[in-house]
Amino acid sequence: MKTTQLRHLIPAGFLLVVLFSITSCNEGGKTKSHRDAFIDSLLSRMTLEEKIGQMTLLTSGWSQTGPSMNEDYKKMIRNGHCGNVFNALTVEYNRKLQRMAVEETRLGIPLLFGYDVIHGFKTIFPIPLATSCSWDTAMIRQTARLASKEAAAAGVTWTFNPMADISRDPRWGRIAEGAGEDPFLASAIARAKVKGHQGRTLSDPLTLAACVKHMAAYGDPRAGRDYNTVDMSLRRLREVYLPPYQAAVEAGAATVMTAFNDLNGIPATGNKFLLTNILRNEWHFDGMVVTDYTSIPEMVDHGYARDEKHAGELALNAGVDMDMQGSTFHNHLKKSVRQDKISEQQINQAVRRVLGLKYDLGLFEDPYRYLDEQREDTIIHSQQMMDHALASAKESVVLLKNEPHEAGQILPMEQQPASMALIGPLADSRSDMLGTWHAAGTDSLVTTLKEGIEQEFPGTTIHYARGCETTGTDQSGFDQALAAARKSEVIVMAVGENFRQSGEAASRAHINLPGVQLELVKKMVQTGKPLVVVLMAGRPLAIPWIDQNVAAILNAWHLGTRAGDAVADILSGDTNPSGKLTSTFPRTTGQIPIFYSVKNTGRPLDPDNKYTSKYLDVPNDPLYPFGYGLSYTQFEYENLKLNRSEINFKQNLQVSVQVKNTGQYKGEEIVQLYTRDMVGSVTRPVKELKGFRKIALKPGEQKQVEFTLSADDLKLYDPKMNHIAEPGKFKVFVGTSSANVLEESFTLVKP
Ligand code: BGC
Repeated sequence: MKTTQLRHLIPAGFLLVVLFSITSCNEGGKTKSHRDAFIDSLLSRMTLEEKIGQMTLLTSGWSQTGPSMNEDYKKMIRNGHCGNVFNALTVEYNRKLQRMAVEETRLGIPLLFGYDVIHGFKTIFPIPLATSCSWDTAMIRQTARLASKEAAAAGVTWTFNPMADISRDPRWGRIAEGAGEDPFLASAIARAKVKGHQGRTLSDPLTLAACVKHMAAYGDPRAGRDYNTVDMSLRRLREVYLPPYQAAVEAGAATVMTAFNDLNGIPATGNKFLLTNILRNEWHFDGMVVTDYTSIPEMVDHGYARDEKHAGELALNAGVDMDMQGSTFHNHLKKSVRQDKISEQQINQAVRRVLGLKYDLGLFEDPYRYLDEQREDTIIHSQQMMDHALASAKESVVLLKNEPHEAGQILPMEQQPASMALIGPLADSRSDMLGTWHAAGTDSLVTTLKEGIEQEFPGTTIHYARGCETTGTDQSGFDQALAAARKSEVIVMAVGENFRQSGEAASRAHINLPGVQLELVKKMVQTGKPLVVVLMAGRPLAIPWIDQNVAAILNAWHLGTRAGDAVADILSGDTNPSGKLTSTFPRTTGQIPIFYSVKNTGRPLDPDNKYTSKYLDVPNDPLYPFGYGLSYTQFEYENLKLNRSEINFKQNLQVSVQVKNTGQYKGEEIVQLYTRDMVGSVTRPVKELKGFRKIALKPGEQKQVEFTLSADDLKLYDPKMNHIAEPGKFKVFVGTSSANVLEESFTLVKP
């Protein structure tokens, strides 16, 4: 294309940028030095206001017809004061905004388009807590890859995912968005998501830049209340909460998001220890740091900043590069520079990172590369998306209980029952299946459980009754539900939480079945009919009564677009459930925080001794432990073997175990390996996950499962916070859950 032709399309300022990129950018030219030179050249032409514009991220609004932006924001884009937008989607809309930035500003720097693509974009996959229960990192990676593909096809360039926050508190609504309680598993999942979102190269227009959030420890708010203070030892921070963020950073995440919370007295968004010492200096992160939504000005409410200007200075000095929705950088940073509170040098550094991301995404080469209507049409809701929505949903379901009813085994329902009562507020709900953060998820394409069952059980007469809502006290639907139950052979209930009852700002002080749903379950139990309870929720629910009184319980979370098909397939036995819990299910809220990797204490539980660590009114153990989940078949573990009883710091330990399918169905088993450091310079948990494998076994089939451990896997933070392994005795456990394992021991010796 000749330059005269180019001139029709783009402004003079942008031309310089394009020419620079065209003349000096070829396959071999995309070196770091080219990148640096390009960014330096651009930076040298930017005014302070334009630089601050690149450090500003603003949300688009949402009107009836889709995303929209008010005139003030549009003006800010046009005059270079807002270089990044989020919650803007569709090729058509984003092209309009991109045109403003590219063709109407002085330098024509393209916009980034951010969005919360957490578990899908339009086709929705199960909530992250659900997919974590698959322990299948390849599947999770594919979930992120496809979510990116769909969102990128609609003009999005950057996702605010993965959320790598560990949570051990199911009161916190955002437990739904994470990978559960364990740092080892959550790290593997965080890595998989970053790789899935970003693909091989960010410049591929079907990938998104990832954003690890929320740095740090946002998942441990006091009393489980969202946004609340986090106060924890440095040891716990490093052992439990930091590893998943670090894993995501090491997997190449392009960006990191700060957290809303105060951590040990300093809000995360102004926390230099987190954002500079750890993130930059220890982990060598060289990408871009964005704040959470208005978390800069919120530092005034925290009582950490005098005013917004001060808050902006604290954020920048701590290591923040981009202000999400606070407008603090926009309103005050210039003055802060004038007053020497911050230097233009610091601003340049932040802008370099923002421009670097745009460069890596290929936006300087072609600002419209993500904006292609044809791609949008063909990719969104394509068969590939819909198939993966089903596959990922099936793998996420956890069978919590499956005992025979007096009339015989209920699950799987291999013989189609003549009639089935389908009861509950979630049995025919579409939107609730999408769960929290369901992005632009299309409700109308969701298969409800009712639809899934009708499809899967064509010979069965279905008597459907809603019975009650997920909230409120109205029991007027109970009679209809009872009538449906009485005329049916079997009852399937879908109860739990609606999609608003988990997620951000959705903490609950009672994590039982909300509303009058438990009363409805009791009524169904009273009929004496075989009953399956399908729980659909965004968090572990405390369901001790159901556990005691109902023979079959499936935990189906919020499974996304293909929720109904997936659950129906499992009910019929077409799919054998294989999920295992990644967060402990308490018996009651009073046990929270509850997790498997506890310390032994000096007075470990002894039921016959009052003065040991326990409650008077509830057992110590949970209702369902971490790693727990049943199958329609049975697996037997035997022959746990170590290849040696002693290893030194350079040797590997081979651990093997035989797992046999002794039941009647083919199935998948998640084999888990835990260790315990028996004596340390600091006390250690009674179990720590160090490995897992998912294997498929036919009935009667047996496999040997192998793990390798080395001193690196046995590290702890010593009293001086050195990350080292200490010689001594260790136990190793392999089994089907954290509470059901075989055990061996070995010694780590100095070479
Ligand atoms: C959430 C983030 C999210 C952001 C943008 C905030 O309220 O905490 O996780 O990425 O909004 O939507």
